[in-house]
This record gives sequence, structure tokens and C-alpha cells, in this order.
Amino acid sequence: MAKYKLVREIDVRLADNSYPILIGQGILQNKELICRFLVSKQVLIVTNTTLASFYLPSFMTILSDRQCDVVILPDGEEYKNSASLNQIYEALISKAHHRDTTLIALGGGVVGDIAGFAASTYQRGVNFIQIPTSLLAQVDASVGGKTAINHPLGKNMIGSFYQPKAVLIDLEVLKTLSLRHFRAGLAEVIKYAILVGGALLDDVRTMLAATTDVKTVSEFLEVSDNLSDIVARCCQIKAEVVQQDERESGVRALLNLGHTVGHALEAYTHYSQWLHGEAVAIGLYCAALLSHLQCGLKQDLVNEIDELLFLARLPRRIPVSVDLNALRILMNTDKKIKNNTLRFVLIRGEGDCFLDGQVTETKLEAALESAVEGE
Ligand code: GLY
Repeated sequence: MAKYKLVREIDVRLADNSYPILIGQGILQNKELICRFLVSKQVLIVTNTTLASFYLPSFMTILSDRQCDVVILPDGEEYKNSASLNQIYEALISKAHHRDTTLIALGGGVVGDIAGFAASTYQRGVNFIQIPTSLLAQVDASVGGKTAINHPLGKNMIGSFYQPKAVLIDLEVLKTLSLRHFRAGLAEVIKYAILVGGALLDDVRTMLAATTDVKTVSEFLEVSDNLSDIVARCCQIKAEVVQQDERESGVRALLNLGHTVGHALEAYTHYSQWLHGEAVAIGLYCAALLSHLQCGLKQDLVNEIDELLFLARLPRRIPVSVDLNALRILMNTDKKIKNNTLRFVLIRGEGDCFLDGQVTETKLEAALESAVEGE
């Protein structure tokens, strides 16, 4: 049996649904490890067209002694919708999957979110395993049990909290990502670095400065030898936050730093212009500008956030073509709204973020205007 190397095991300890995050190399080829989390002879793999060509044949080999069905979705955020969800339900029902089946999400954030939502609702809930293949899903989306599909009017509008039985992170798979998809994941890494500051921020800065001109993901991984450690640290932070606040009634909302504007930009462009991480990158810059206006974030840190995003070769500015009023209206579906008031995750300093419901329309408008390209 193919051997795997475990780099780190992190437990997400929750009252009812504790589970491990296993981070390592060669995990995807290890039958014993994968099968440890299956409860019956039925499995449904949800993946996408891009990943299917890389991994599906060998992955299915290790499940060959089971009923193993597959749903291959088109690749892209614009397919995180009810049509894709129905495709999964249809496969489950037509292939007679029972309540003890296991759904395996083999893919990035889109596949994980949609497969998780299907698992949470099929026969009122079946087993679910996350095998995240994008950097973004490895450091953020696969951990914590948020599942959802998008609605044309708003991102992640229909969903549930539903924890997986395990998150299996194979770092080897990052090598097959396009550099663009890989860099999109760096936006969530930068988010964690701002949220906690200190050593993580220093290490992320060093990693990005050393890799800014690389041409491939393999080159990135050669130049920077600490990505696996950074992935593990992001997962550890996420696990700790989720343990404190599984259903986002408090501190978990801080993980939405950069996402209020990011989600609105995604909806504005019908989920087709930016990868989620790219929209979050612009959202992080907007959050920095707004924090400067609202809570006195020092200009040096605004510049530093801008520089980190630049080093990661991520978009940071709102294109001039975007109608800022329409963008503002799209923020009205933000899930942090309380008592009809939009609340923003703002930055006081590195490692010091908070939720603010006092942002005036004037300040928001000013921040968005300064984030527009060429301003
Ligand atoms: N992506 C933020 C969260 O899971 O809470």
C-alpha cells in the first residue's frame, strides 16, 4: 500500500462532532487511511472536471471494493448552484445510496461547499469527508463545517453548518494547481496572517517576498520550504476559532475579514470574473482602507497589507467599471447583518481585528472610492 507522510494532525474538538484534520503527503493514495473514515460499502465522490482528469482514476482504485459512484461538476464558482446540487441528489437517489453512505468532496472550496450541503440534507444528513485540493480549501474552506450554494443575488445564501468526519489534506496535490488558483489561496493565508499578526505575519511576508516572481506552483514550493507549516498554522487557528464559536455567533465572524466586499464583488460579476480568493484580496484592501478611516489603522499597516497582496500577485483594486452603488446594495445580503445593520470586520492593528456595526455610509463610500483602480 502506498505510504503517506503525516506532517501534522489537528483535532477540531466540538461538543458533538469532533474530527481530525490530517495534513501530509501521499494521503490521497493511502487506502487504509481513506477507508478509516468510511462507514459502509457505499461512497459518492463529488469532484470537478479539472480534478477528475488528475486524480479520479487512481483514487477510485483504492475504493474498488465498494459501490463507488461519482459526480463530476463543471469547474468554477458559477456552478456552485442548485443545478449542481440537484445533480448530486439525483446520483444519490438513482444509485440507491442509503443513510450510511459517505460523500467525499475531492476538490476546492466549491466542491467542498456543495458536497457538504448535499451531505447535510440527503436523507437528513449522511457522512461526509473533505479532501481539499486547492490551497484556499486546505487553509480555510474545508475546515469548520460551513456548507452552501450561491444564489444569483448573493454568495452562500443557502447552506448549513455541517461538520465533516475528517479533513484529509494532501499537500502533494497543490503541485497540479494553476499558479492563479494557488495564488488565490494565498489571500486566505494573508487574512489569517493579519488576524493573528506576530510570527505568522512575519513568516507569510518572508514566504511571499521570496516567491513573488515564481512561474509555477512547483517553483513556489521549491523556493519556499515552509508552506506546509503555514497551512497547518492556518488550520490550527481555524480549528481554535470554530471550537469557540461553531455557528458564528461571535468570534468566528472575524474569519470574514475581507469577505463583505469580496462576496459582493463575486455576486456583482455573477461569480465569473474573480476566483473567490481574488475577490477576497480586493476585499482585504478595502477592509484596510475602511479601517484607516473608521478606527485609525495606521497608514503603514494599510501599505503593508497592500504590499503583501502585491507580493502574492493578487488583485487589490476595484475596477473602474464597477458601479459602487450596485456593489453596496449587494452587501445587503451579508450574513453579518444584525438588526438591519451591516457589520464589518475591521483592523485596529496586526492581530487585532473586531466587528464594527458603526460604519457610516459616507466612510464606506470613501473607502470603496479609494480602492478603485487609479485612485
Ligand atoms: N471562511 C470563514 C469561516 O469558515 O468561518
